[in-house]
Amino acid sequence: MKGCQQFGGVWTEKKLKCLKKYLCAYTTALKNKPFELVYIDAFAGTGYRTQNPDPNEFNDLLPGFSDVEVQEFLKGSARIALEIEPQFDHYYFIEQNKKHFEELTKLRNSFPRLSNRINLINEDSNNYLIEICTNWNWKKRRAILFLDPYGMNVNWTTVESIAKTEAIDMWYLFPLGVAVNRLLKKDGEICDAWKTKLDTIFGTSNWYTAFYKNEEQESLFEDDPHVQKTATYIKIKNFFLKRLQEEFADVSSNPLVLLNSRGCPLYLFCFAASNKKGAPIAIRIAKNILDHMGKDGPQLQN
Ligand SMILES: C[S@@+](CC[C@H](N)C(=O)[O-])C[C@H]1O[C@@H](n2cnc3c(N)ncnc32)[C@H](O)[C@@H]1O
Repeated sequence: MKGCQQFGGVWTEKKLKCLKKYLCAYTTALKNKPFELVYIDAFAGTGYRTQNPDPNEFNDLLPGFSDVEVQEFLKGSARIALEIEPQFDHYYFIEQNKKHFEELTKLRNSFPRLSNRINLINEDSNNYLIEICTNWNWKKRRAILFLDPYGMNVNWTTVESIAKTEAIDMWYLFPLGVAVNRLLKKDGEICDAWKTKLDTIFGTSNWYTAFYKNEEQESLFEDDPHVQKTATYIKIKNFFLKRLQEEFADVSSNPLVLLNSRGCPLYLFCFAASNKKGAPIAIRIAKNILDHMGKDGPQLQN
């Protein structure tokens, strides 16, 4: 099928279940409050996804199209959000890929009663998010933002502007194992392009001292420092959660660890609330959902 979007397995299912539960709880809790409620899906995809019976999760890094005929079509995040009751006042679906975007536009026909609430944006989500976070008046608005990239597509400057709105609750699929840990090479010899990528996702270059140590080693040259990677999945998780805590009113301390079929960590599914007053309840709900979805699930190993 042309333009189909194929990714993920059990972990995709878990991520979308968390999102769905939170969206329901959110619109129910805020339905009688004097806010305009907005759902923003910044990596919206096509609206549906295809389940490969034997998925190779690492293909997720390649935002290409599959020409394989796949039998099972499942709902993607955009479709899930449009089915939530009570409804949101506005839906913003951002998708950069032209073919994915064409598929996404068909959603409007599937939900005619919501068509005047649906906004479709064929742009880079970092640019668009910074624009709306900076230019919209957030006093009377509250939003849930879903950041669901394949890899390291979210810039820290975007995260900063989201937090500054003090109105957005953010779910962020952080590419812990699919990307970040892979770029942190064992010998610390990281090329400039990868360093820039890591600086951009963390919003700092302090990751280097956090994830590497200099070891004096016996060598012909006595002062020759030997660099060793100390980063573990847990260390990267803690570093990233700390970065979020520096910006947001509060951050859920129990992100969901999503593994591939071989048991390797792929992503961390994180939640952060930007409104001080709303944060305690938002975090309580998100934490419960994450605990529930993560129970009996994997813990990160050092
Ligand atoms: C993992 S998929 C999203 C899946 C979707 N959330 C769902 O549940 O169906 C990531 C999507 O982000 C899009 N994308 C990648 N980089 C982007 C960017 N900078 N801005 C907007 N969309 C982007 C890709 O084309 C792809 O469709």
